Amino acid sequence: MAVDPHLHQQSLAPIRWHRSRGPQTTYQTLELAREMVGKSRNVIEWSQRVYGLGVEEMDTTHAEFAALVNSIAQADAPEDLHILFTKLLDHTRGHFTRESELMRECGFKAIDEHEADHTRVLGDLERFAAMARRGMPDMAKAFVSEFLPGWFDAHAQTMDAALAQCVKTLRRQR
Ligand SMILES: [Fe+2]
Ligand SMILES: [Fe+2]
Repeated sequence: MAVDPHLHQQSLAPIRWHRSRGPQTTYQTLELAREMVGKSRNVIEWSQRVYGLGVEEMDTTHAEFAALVNSIAQADAPEDLHILFTKLLDHTRGHFTRESELMRECGFKAIDEHEADHTRVLGDLERFAAMARRGMPDMAKAFVSEFLPGWFDAHAQTMDAALAQCVKTLRRQR
């Protein structure tokens, strides 16, 4: 799924999406997430101060990723979890594909290690999403809410921070 670069500029007016079809855009998914907020705490507290890397498209993507992970941690209904796992999977594929493009653009030296970490997590996510589809959403929810926050914290502050540095250096030279 393509990441919407204007996500944060869109109207905050409530969107009426059809539950039978599910949210159609990332923004509507975040609206679904907002409806669920209050049931429990966020598992990733994304903020510019803590996670901002100074590359806008990466920061936007990471904020969206955190919102989707939080929405899964706070969802209970199997149909909501199914919609949200699908959204997270699509979003994560787009997220990692775009970072691979950025790594190639700037000649990122640790591309193999960075892509291997993406492949490992995406594989885990695909396996757990498949379990959710087979009627076992609790294990998938536990993976997303208990494993992914720690993974994201370490990955964003090491590999993604290094990539952001590479992108900023490249863009300063242009
Ligand atoms: Fe990332
Ligand atoms: Fe990454």
